[in-house]
Amino acid sequence: MVLTKKKLIYYGIILVITISLQRRWKTAEIPDHLLGHTARFHPEFISVELQKRLLKLIKETKVFPWDSDKSDIFFSRTYTDIGEDIPIGSDGTCSNPYLIPNQDKSKCILEPWFAYTRHFLLYGGLDGLKENFTFHFIIQVPGQTAPVHIDNPYFEDATMFQYPPWLLEVMAGSGLYQDTFIDQVQGVGYLHEWNKPKYGGQFAYFDKNTIVPTYEKPTPRSVMLIDGSKTIHASTIYKPKFRPPIMAKDAKNELVFSPTKEGDETWELRSNDKILRKYHTDDLRINAIYRARCFESEEKRKEFNKWYKTPGNGRPIEEILNELKEELVNKRDYDRKTLDSMPRFDLALVLVDEFVKYPWPTRSLFPYNYCALPDLYPWTEKYLKWICF
Ligand SMILES: [Fe+2]
Repeated sequence: MVLTKKKLIYYGIILVITISLQRRWKTAEIPDHLLGHTARFHPEFISVELQKRLLKLIKETKVFPWDSDKSDIFFSRTYTDIGEDIPIGSDGTCSNPYLIPNQDKSKCILEPWFAYTRHFLLYGGLDGLKENFTFHFIIQVPGQTAPVHIDNPYFEDATMFQYPPWLLEVMAGSGLYQDTFIDQVQGVGYLHEWNKPKYGGQFAYFDKNTIVPTYEKPTPRSVMLIDGSKTIHASTIYKPKFRPPIMAKDAKNELVFSPTKEGDETWELRSNDKILRKYHTDDLRINAIYRARCFESEEKRKEFNKWYKTPGNGRPIEEILNELKEELVNKRDYDRKTLDSMPRFDLALVLVDEFVKYPWPTRSLFPYNYCALPDLYPWTEKYLKWICF
């Protein structure tokens, strides 16, 4: 890389901002109710036989969509948005980087996982990546990471079947709904066969109020047991020297097992059916996630299962927004009139910024992903192209 005078000036500006941000950046603000929960790592938990069977099942499943797609493919949510929707562009895309087409492609709504994709866009995950926006599969291709996040929370009267997942994350972060919060157990099991620490892709979780998480290596057949809906977690970059292709958020993005003959282990990364890159099974970081919800009795379990799958259920979304607004007024000095008159997109930003307190990047000198600025503010592109593109 050639260091021109312009680049030196930009790097100088970044250094000054870095130094001034150090104090705030190194302090985590994780709320108490999301700290200190049990997390256990079990090496050699999955037998070789089971690993082989699960890998076979994954190959038979064949197509793995970018995980934002799936939430709206399988069911109809009672409330898909809080009123932040805008008309879809004539080319079927959404110009705002946080909005995506809804299920029937009639309008643009906030991306369902917006609470953590916003954090990833602004700060670039644990490693503080400086890049344009990329999306992630449960199966990771080289160069990918898992953003800092909590898994989809479930409440006795609110789940992803009624409300957008980002709003559930806000509800969990607010601490207002602890009485109805449903504990979960998640097992993250690794099915790939490689075992090389230098590949990275470590599981990281924040059980203490610090920006330095606890790390576990993704060794084959190990399992991490955790309630990911109340412990913030992420992964470090898998094979950090590689750069994954950039995929448009409005496109149909898939990883597809595409063997041409018996024994062929080829996978294709496709965007709108165009092949962007090919991989071998051994190139991938593959995990299977097991999720279970915990109930105090069989009766409660049955009651909940019947309730949450009934379409159209759920308290009016305005009721929940009112409770969250009240909390902003009472505890964070917001003005109620201002909140009520705010465009709904702006209200969503306030809710996420106030209630979803993920730690800033642990492994980076500079906390902000300045290379994503052109996505948010196109006028910055002419300045940032010197260091980002
Ligand atoms: Fe997770």
